[in-house]
Amino acid sequence: MMPPTVFAFALFALTFIGSQANAATVEHTFHIRNLTVSRMCKEKVILAVNDQYPGPAIQVTEGDSVVVHVINESPFDMTIHWHGVFQLGSAWADGANMVTQCPIRPGKRLTYRFNVTGQEGTLWWHAHVSYHRVTVHGPLIIRPKGGTEALPFPKPDDEVTIVLGEWWSANVVKAEEEVMRSIFSTISDAFTINGYPGDLYNCSENYKLEVEYGKTYLLRIINAALDNQFFYKVAGHTFTVVGVDATYTKPYKTDVIVIALGQTVDAIMVADSTPARYYMAASPYATEDPQPPYLENTTTRGILQYKSASLSSSPVMPSLPSLHHTPTAHRFYTSLTSLLLPGQPTVPLHVDERMFITIGVGTLCKGGEEWCELIADRLVVTSMNNVSFRLPKQGVNAGAHFKRVVAYALST
Ligand SMILES: *[C@@H]1O[C@H](CO)[C@@H](O)[C@H](O)[C@H]1NC(C)=O
Ligand SMILES: *[C@@H]1O[C@H](CO)[C@@H](O)[C@H](O)[C@H]1NC(C)=O
Ligand SMILES: *[C@@H]1O[C@H](CO)[C@@H](O)[C@H](O)[C@H]1NC(C)=O
Ligand SMILES: *[C@@H]1O[C@H](CO)[C@@H](O)[C@H](O)[C@H]1NC(C)=O
Ligand SMILES: *[C@@H]1O[C@H](CO)[C@@H](O)[C@H](O)[C@H]1NC(C)=O
Repeated sequence: MMPPTVFAFALFALTFIGSQANAATVEHTFHIRNLTVSRMCKEKVILAVNDQYPGPAIQVTEGDSVVVHVINESPFDMTIHWHGVFQLGSAWADGANMVTQCPIRPGKRLTYRFNVTGQEGTLWWHAHVSYHRVTVHGPLIIRPKGGTEALPFPKPDDEVTIVLGEWWSANVVKAEEEVMRSIFSTISDAFTINGYPGDLYNCSENYKLEVEYGKTYLLRIINAALDNQFFYKVAGHTFTVVGVDATYTKPYKTDVIVIALGQTVDAIMVADSTPARYYMAASPYATEDPQPPYLENTTTRGILQYKSASLSSSPVMPSLPSLHHTPTAHRFYTSLTSLLLPGQPTVPLHVDERMFITIGVGTLCKGGEEWCELIADRLVVTSMNNVSFRLPKQGVNAGAHFKRVVAYALST
């Protein structure tokens, strides 16, 4: 496992290498296995890829082919989902357990092959079986074909990946089973920045980032948490958001980033404050008031320090919005608009069909009754237009769909 500063600089070293014009093949081998780490005064065996937590970054240039050999050395079923990748013509490589593939059984392996086309910026990958993604995850960074010169914003001097996550001392497989039975007794113990909870929690290290005065940094922020949206700030610094979910946005200046589960935000930060030490911090944002029992209200923080700063000075803490500060979240989300690029299509302005789509989370009675009093009789379900979804017991979902397509093609 790499200490936090090394994580940042290893990414830096890999940063600006590839800018070749031809599509390449980027090949990785992921060994998924136990890793013992110490957090919050305790040792815990977690699942990790190649003994790294967060996992290794996959670095590609738009148009590249990606080949990842996943070797499941864990005692659990496993799949890896390439979160946000369009998977054009390669739906089978999407990694959604029992939807596009059967899981990789313990001791088995699978090679994922897909191309990254028409997307630039930051995505990520994660386990897609049970809650294993809590520790089995990592960045997927997509650079433009023309290298940093082709970025639609001033070239940054350096870049840093910031993975926001959760630390669970509990068994996450059991926790997920409980949630499905609408028992929300188990929650995470801490939030993390690049795997480190920070000094607001008991015996916890801070993630540390060293910056140089006057330099410009591209922060690639990823929310890899299971349950929480975050506010993220760096004291004394502001951001210009330039992309979300591997799509460029019109530059948007803000002193706070709001990031939902699974989302990524690319933001430029200039190190132009008084050379000193500053906290970067993330705290949750939740609309529900009162707070649902499965959310926690704590803060993770890391330290940003200038090269010339005295290490004895105590860092400045940013003031974060309060837990239910919807105006901040609303302002952030509604300020993001896509960047209009020359020669690229705009948003289609003509609408052929309007659709009304609702998404919800609720409970159903196990026996199919209209109403059931006991929590034990209820199942937690998510739904789209009132239709819920149950994983098939055998045969992947996409298989059933494609059989129908084939049957239709044969009969017409
Ligand atoms: C990995 O950890 C699990 C507990 O999560 C344990 O049951 C298993 O025996 C461990 N496997 C190895 C190879 O150490
Ligand atoms: C991915 O790219 C390679 C190389 O350009 C090409 O041969 C292959 O057909 C592409 N795969 C898909 C599914 O489009
Ligand atoms: C830190 O440790 C103290 C003493 O053991 C305990 O009372 C407290 O709840 C702990 N705080 C957190 C955030 O875990
Ligand atoms: C969240 O935590 C902060 C800081 O400890 C506290 O001031 C605030 O009241 C808490 N909010 C809720 C809704 O519990
Ligand atoms: C969902 O079901 C409720 C209750 O039957 C109904 O009022 C609502 O219109 C339905 N919504 C959609 C989008 O079908």
